[in-house]
Amino acid sequence: MIKLGNTEIRGKAILAPMAGVTDRAFRELCMGFGAAYCVSEMASAKALTMSDRKTAELLGLSPAEQPIAIQIFGYDPAVMAEGAKIAAQYAPAAIDINMGCPAPKIANNHSGSALMKDPALCGRIVEAVAKAVDLPVTVKIRKGWDAQSVNAVEVARICEAAGAQMIAVHGRTREQMYAPPADWDIITAVKQSVKVPVVGNGDIDSAADAMRMLEQTGCDLVMVGRGALGNPWIFREINAQYDLERPVAPPGLYERLSVMNRHIAKLCAYKGEHIGMREARKHTAWYMRGLRGAARLRVMCGELRTFDDMKRLTQAVIEENEALPTSP
Ligand SMILES: Cc1cc2nc3c(=O)[nH]c(=O)nc-3n(C[C@H](O)[C@H](O)[C@H](O)COP(=O)(O)O)c2cc1C
Repeated sequence: MIKLGNTEIRGKAILAPMAGVTDRAFRELCMGFGAAYCVSEMASAKALTMSDRKTAELLGLSPAEQPIAIQIFGYDPAVMAEGAKIAAQYAPAAIDINMGCPAPKIANNHSGSALMKDPALCGRIVEAVAKAVDLPVTVKIRKGWDAQSVNAVEVARICEAAGAQMIAVHGRTREQMYAPPADWDIITAVKQSVKVPVVGNGDIDSAADAMRMLEQTGCDLVMVGRGALGNPWIFREINAQYDLERPVAPPGLYERLSVMNRHIAKLCAYKGEHIGMREARKHTAWYMRGLRGAARLRVMCGELRTFDDMKRLTQAVIEENEALPTSP
């Protein structure tokens, strides 16, 4: 068990922040399947200080998703501190600082992964945020900016010295975006260099991957990103493997469909049917992974308009897959 301020993180696997994906509906679902902790979609510290309504909407937290950190991005220590104070009003377990986002609109604006080009600034940001809020401050970093500037260990040490209480490491440089296999050795190197808990991140698609990362890197927790898309039960599978040392069967067809419907119903409840169903298109397509007729079914996913369309999609999945003896 990891202690982060007053919060106990029970379990080994946490849900990664993914903008546009890990909203309240998905976070609640993953926590229900046993994720030990989660992180909000990133929110702009500057927008928070300007009372931006859309940014504030990202931050409504519910008890079902605790413990959760709110992640903020930006580059100016004073603005980050102000943004963190506002984020703290939503009562998260921690404030997480984004030092990993590779998207040009963030990184070209000195934020996200661009912070790693200036380790001293990373330290000043952590210090300013830690001073501003009465909550633990954590950071999420990458391996470095590019192959010529791999500095995760240096940045992690500086952040720890500045007051960061947990460090998540995504084993890719900014230059690598999301594509080549993540380098888990950099997670090992960071773990060996700091005393605070280290979270390993990159390419965990199964319980076996999670066990391998824990063993290989010595990290305290693993963070699952894309491996949870259309696959929120991965947390149940990791917990079973970790706690009981045995695999659990993957969900059968009907559980899979029931979870998908529950997910989309939550999405519509929180965002309204119009936005919810538009966002449901990508989520449902992820749930089709591995199903028979997935190509045809994905076309249906792309055409979803109302919650009623979920019934037609569900029926079509059953027609294509019911004869399968077990889950796909
Ligand atoms: C669609 C998408 C959105 C993401 N948004 C964020 C974000 O808001 N903040 C962040 O720190 N990382 C973000 N990430 C990075 C993930 O948290 C994670 O570090 C990365 O996907 C690697 O883990 P994985 O191999 O398990 O997917 C995002 C990744 C994806 C695919």
